[in-house]
Amino acid sequence: MSTNQTRHILIQTYGCQMNVYDTEIMWRLLHPLGYRAAASEKTADIILINTCAIREKAEQKVFSFLGRLALLKQNRPQLIIGICGCIAQNQGKTLIQRSPCIDFVVGTHALFQLPSILDRVWNGQHRQKVYVDFEDHLIDVDLDHSPIMNTDISGFVTIMRGCNNYCAYCVVPYVRGREMSRPSDNIINEIKHKVSKGMREVTLLGQNVNSYGKREGMVSFSALLAEVNEIKDLLRIRFTTSHPKDLDMDLMDAFANLEKLCAHIHLPVQSGSDQILKRMNRKYTRKEYLAKIDRLKNKCPDISITSDFIVGFPGETREDFDDSLSLIRDVEYDSLFAFQYSDRDIAPASQFFPKVDDKIKRDRLIELLDVQSKNTLKRNDRCIGQCHSVLVEGKSKRDTDQWTGRTSGNKIVNFIAPETTNNLNAFLVDVFIEEACAHSLRGYLCHMK
Ligand code: 5AD
Ligand code: SF4
Repeated sequence: MSTNQTRHILIQTYGCQMNVYDTEIMWRLLHPLGYRAAASEKTADIILINTCAIREKAEQKVFSFLGRLALLKQNRPQLIIGICGCIAQNQGKTLIQRSPCIDFVVGTHALFQLPSILDRVWNGQHRQKVYVDFEDHLIDVDLDHSPIMNTDISGFVTIMRGCNNYCAYCVVPYVRGREMSRPSDNIINEIKHKVSKGMREVTLLGQNVNSYGKREGMVSFSALLAEVNEIKDLLRIRFTTSHPKDLDMDLMDAFANLEKLCAHIHLPVQSGSDQILKRMNRKYTRKEYLAKIDRLKNKCPDISITSDFIVGFPGETREDFDDSLSLIRDVEYDSLFAFQYSDRDIAPASQFFPKVDDKIKRDRLIELLDVQSKNTLKRNDRCIGQCHSVLVEGKSKRDTDQWTGRTSGNKIVNFIAPETTNNLNAFLVDVFIEEACAHSLRGYLCHMK
């Protein structure tokens, strides 16, 4: 494609941070070729949907958006519609049969072929639908040649893709493929590049970061963290997600030893019942999980701990659910995400019985969130009267007199500073916490570092 030809593209992203990062890659591939962001669906030449298949609700959102686009396309038949991401991988060609408004489908591992696919589609052949399947050589196309235009103060960098764990409820191993780690040099270069453009906090992404490099015999995850810790002008490091079974002593030590590593870990437990954990194929027991939580708290007493829970997994009894509630009370999570179990055809648990009634699932979700809301308030209250280091990310959207940022423990803080204060963006500042709310803290600026 010649660079003087502008094509307007809208990329609609659903799902996790991994998808957000993939959308960023798409822009990095497409921008140098003259593609520009469309202001709206109406002005777009191409609409690309980066899809999520993790739960039924996530899929429903994509299909209702697609329904809207089908109507739009009736009036503008030249509009090109593409599907990528996890639903694309999972449903492939059948998507085109189901929704004829779709022009092309790109599986997750064919991401880097997007420019050539779009060219084919654009150059008139696009009424022959394009479908591109799984490619095994995704992992490290050299991103150094795709420029980073700008970056947020807090940004993502993927360190590995895929998952080998096969939890019984989960589609990820099927739609994202086997675990593959990026070489550490590429990761470090990308972070340095982003830091040169203004990023100050990086979140390292992977479905199971603890097993980084194991398959390829590369450096361990804790060694990678130590390397990232040395990057000049980078102020903070976060990572997500960790699998409890792979959380090792080295990583726990990193919380005590690496000054840039934030005091927060997302350690999804999914259930507090051993019976359910076994059926989920999580490969740890409640006792083992709790022992790791204790060790983490010993290494880093201020650590924030967050988690994911599934309620209503097939066979979950009231006793099993009570075990989840008691685990939540024991750990005192800072916050958590909870989901009603939903059947995914390709995941083994879709064949597990007995299913839990929808109403019971809904009630359990409400009950669980209620127990956690007390923990969240208690954990947030503990911050009152303390000074917390906050990385400033801008002015608060609700109240533009206030600045906003997050603590090392990942809590949102809105705070006031004297009017004469210089621009605080991207600085680490100390904030005195005066008030704790359900989802954020409030305070005032003590001093800048
Ligand atoms: N049903 C409900 N929740 C699910 N998750 C993954 N698969 C399912 C499913 N089939 C949740 C898990 C996971 C999070 C990303 O989504 O809690 O940690
Ligand atoms: Fe899914 Fe389990 Fe892999 Fe997480 S560890 S992505 S829940 S299979």
